Amino acid sequence: MTSAIDIRGLGYSFGTHRAVDDLTLAVEPGECFGLLGPNGAGKTTTIRLLNTLLPLQTGEVEIFGRSVRTQAMVVRRLLGYVPQQLSIEGALSGRENVEWFARLFDVPRRERRARVDEVLEMVDLRGDESRLASTYSGGMVRRLELAQALVNRPALLVLDEPTVGLDPVARDSVWMRVAQMQRDHGMTVLLTTHYMEEADALCDRVALMHRGALRALGSPDELKAAAGEGASLEDVFRHHTGEALGDDAGDGEKGGLRGVRATRRTARRLG
Ligand SMILES: Nc1ncnc2c1ncn2[C@@H]1O[C@H](COP(=O)(O)OP(=O)(O)OP(=O)(O)O)[C@@H](O)[C@H]1O
Ligand SMILES: [Mg+2]
Repeated sequence: MTSAIDIRGLGYSFGTHRAVDDLTLAVEPGECFGLLGPNGAGKTTTIRLLNTLLPLQTGEVEIFGRSVRTQAMVVRRLLGYVPQQLSIEGALSGRENVEWFARLFDVPRRERRARVDEVLEMVDLRGDESRLASTYSGGMVRRLELAQALVNRPALLVLDEPTVGLDPVARDSVWMRVAQMQRDHGMTVLLTTHYMEEADALCDRVALMHRGALRALGSPDELKAAAGEGASLEDVFRHHTGEALGDDAGDGEKGGLRGVRATRRTARRLG
């Protein structure tokens, strides 16, 4: 079976800073997959490489068998993307924002109105579609962005921290809609989040990244079981990334040693 996302030996540097380091990872069709890791781990960079916003340096990425390097246009049509940074235009209405994306992603002219209706309905914004997006609350903005990402009926939905800054009710409402889309349309979902309970509840599998590299991969249950009895996904997170906590992220021997010590301490606690 062709993977939804096939990442092989992916590497990316900003100048001398290694943001993604030899990442190999596959996401299967229909999966909800979580990319986890502390600030600066390389999650957004990985996402921007696979959605063609950054040019590949080393390694290869295929989306449903299509090469990001050589078939960027095809890949873009397969993708819906909610970026970490806000992507809506405040001077346009909610509806105009979605229409703009529909044009951008070549939704056929005849279908556009119905599609825009459909996704606005899905995120419960029909009642507010004529208001300027600048008057929306944070939760409404996130739902509008979700509508934008869904308007081209993507096979793969990529969400970079879609619920950051939302209250618990608004978060639930975003996730409920994502889960429903996944169920109804067999969509593959790749998301990042810093809320471990969210990842635990939603993701079939998660990958834990730290300093650009893959540290752990598996279902939340597998990873929790491996971390010891009663461990939460947050414990797993700390176990694999603990060396960064309160550390100045030095890469030398000292940092490494300190890292090992911190990791071991965590491991003992977990055991
Ligand atoms: N445009 C850029 N220029 C230079 N360095 C960058 C750029 N974008 C990211 N980086 C660096 O690359 C590393 C990975 O950043 P990235 O945004 O991928 O992390 P992240 O895992 O998404 O973090 P967060 O959880 O904070 O969103 C960081 O050290 C960051 O400072
Ligand atoms: Mg990020």
